[in-house]
Amino acid sequence: MHSIMEQIQTKRIVLGLTGGIAAYKSAELTRLLVNQGMQVQVAMTEAACHFITPITMQALSGKPVFTNQWGEHTANHMAHINLSRTTDAIMIAPATADFIAKLAHGLADDLLSALCLARNCPLLVAPAMNRQMWESPATQRNIQQLLADGVTILGPVSGMQACGEEGMGRMQEPTELARALLTFFQPKLLSGVKVLLTAGPTYEAIDAVRGITNRSSGKMGYAITQAALELGAEVTLISGPTALSSPHGAALVNITSAAEMFEAVQKHVADANIFIGVAAVADYRVAQPTGQKIKKSTGGLTLELFPNPDILGYVAGLPKPPFCVGFAAESHNLHDYAATKRKTKKIPLLAANLAQQAIGADDNELILFDDTGEHVLPRADKLTLARALLQHIVKLYRQGNKL
Ligand code: C5P
Repeated sequence: MHSIMEQIQTKRIVLGLTGGIAAYKSAELTRLLVNQGMQVQVAMTEAACHFITPITMQALSGKPVFTNQWGEHTANHMAHINLSRTTDAIMIAPATADFIAKLAHGLADDLLSALCLARNCPLLVAPAMNRQMWESPATQRNIQQLLADGVTILGPVSGMQACGEEGMGRMQEPTELARALLTFFQPKLLSGVKVLLTAGPTYEAIDAVRGITNRSSGKMGYAITQAALELGAEVTLISGPTALSSPHGAALVNITSAAEMFEAVQKHVADANIFIGVAAVADYRVAQPTGQKIKKSTGGLTLELFPNPDILGYVAGLPKPPFCVGFAAESHNLHDYAATKRKTKKIPLLAANLAQQAIGADDNELILFDDTGEHVLPRADKLTLARALLQHIVKLYRQGNKL
């Protein structure tokens, strides 16, 4: 089987730009898609060329840009047909209110609108406009029409606008749009499956301002969330304090302490088909945290610590547990400790890594332990690893459920 990235590298995209200030972000989007290995053919409306030049887009995509229906790059003047026949998807980013109206009504008076109308491939649209234009009944009607026509609408999001107003109408960030395309192209192997995840560190208060925590960044858990969403899963992410933004589409539950994480897991676990404990849960909490800041004194300070509940152990021990996946970060003796941990926790799959290489880092290496033995996922960035891990989880989950 080809890896997901190999599958994606064969994808061809037409990226259509229309005349909005967010067009400058399409340069970054093109770079991201090209870096992911996709072939990007840019087409621009005349208005888009007032915001960013075709030369910029040509340099970034590595291909001549289509801006005109008449005479450019194609001998037969059929660019609107040729382009859509040789692409896997069309993405319009930014899509202005005017262009969305044209799409909704089937107008085709320039190359980009004609090629959208003539397409026989999926269309994804990333609206970008002033908030009043977005909220207007006409635009909302047009968006409803596009949804009914099977078009995928990405965003918009709320925030500061180029016109100085604040509200809904900003184009999704290029990283989000690139992610959306990746998601779009992946087979939905976990469609209808509910995944519950814990991620990040926990923080155990000592007093009003101090606490016990660890260096977990949450990157692995958030990457697994993203990978599960890409496969069509419904994901609930229970996260300790991190500096990351939750992948679009996940239900995020923010917690601070292990006790809060345990409570949140108990609340959501009944629905879950798959539970993945990625969080670096503090093993101990302070017996009696004080509400006020402890004053410094010349003497020592003794803290009494109580053990925290083993959340993964609790889930795996339920009468009808979901398919459980655990993580083990060890500083040494990785193989022995990991294999033993999988057995004591009674879980079908455990992903082990060396703590000193994994915690806080952008890339990692995992060894998966299951009933059939060990499987090495070689060093890669955490999203690539997360996707490979999810493929392994899907295989075992389907075997277990005879899917
Ligand atoms: O027990 P240990 O920390 O070695 O095991 C790590 C695995 O158990 C991870 O999957 C982690 O998320 C989970 N865990 C947990 N609750 C704890 C401690 C660890 O769910 N209190």
